[in-house]
Amino acid sequence: MPALSSSAPGKVILFGEHAVVYGQPAIAVPITEVAAKAIITPDPVATSGAIHITAPLINLDANYTDLPNEDPIAAAIRATLTALNVDQPPAFKLRVTSTIPVASGLGSGAAVSVAIIRAVSAFLGNPLPDQDVSALAFEVEKLHHGTPSGIDNTVITYNAAVYYIKGKPIEKIHIAKPFGLVIADTGISTPTKETVADVRRLWESDPDPYNKIFDSIGKLAVAARSTIEEGNNVALGPLMNENHELLQKLDVSSPDLDKLVLAAREAGALGAKLSGGGRGGNIIALAAEGHADEIKTAVEAAGARNAFITTVK
Ligand code: MEV
Repeated sequence: MPALSSSAPGKVILFGEHAVVYGQPAIAVPITEVAAKAIITPDPVATSGAIHITAPLINLDANYTDLPNEDPIAAAIRATLTALNVDQPPAFKLRVTSTIPVASGLGSGAAVSVAIIRAVSAFLGNPLPDQDVSALAFEVEKLHHGTPSGIDNTVITYNAAVYYIKGKPIEKIHIAKPFGLVIADTGISTPTKETVADVRRLWESDPDPYNKIFDSIGKLAVAARSTIEEGNNVALGPLMNENHELLQKLDVSSPDLDKLVLAAREAGALGAKLSGGGRGGNIIALAAEGHADEIKTAVEAAGARNAFITTVK
């Protein structure tokens, strides 16, 4: 049997991170410039059930059975074997690669899970449908995020722009007019699990003001959905700026993120905000037509580790 591979894109959250964990709507889009890949090669000389994993990005070179239960790669394999009722798969080698920076708000954890679940289920002759892939990746997300909303596994599995409310059926969004985004990395990785837990602590200590912030963020996501579906892209900018301010109030921004956001706005971005869990990771900036390069140069000059331009379509 030849090698088999499966890949999954990264993602950015356009509106609604953190508030989405509390039942508010959010909007996310896949980012195909970066991707995670899972490659499976049968291992006919090994005994049945043996699985060897390499993931150079995280210096992993181990047997499946030697990994702790909470290891996300092992968890993705286990979830797939369990879902397919397979005890002893034919021996295989799994190689995981990814160009999605880890813990930077671009969905690396969910993309790795989705790629593995797809590859393992296909290898076992039973490729799972999107709904099951997303549900299994969500189980693994709980290891990454503690109390995830499910938006990352959803947008990445379906590889489509989504309007997402926790626990509700997926709603795809029609992008009436493509728009350019500059995505810029602070170079600081912060696990989403940490910021999600910090926001929860704040909310638990004083629910009312935080519920109001979540509510305001949710209203921005609702407004942004109509704006995107009408193709009125320029109007998205101020909504992004407002969303960033509300995220600052949740204490998930940081001086580095604020610096990149300001640099992008000063270079003519129509709006800019942090994207994902925050504290580090990436910002996104909405570029007016023909201005993305200027914004990219400006955020690089302001210290972005890596910046790239994508078109949301
Ligand atoms: C992470 O990409 C987005 C957060 O809202 C967490 C989640 O929704 O699970 C911060």
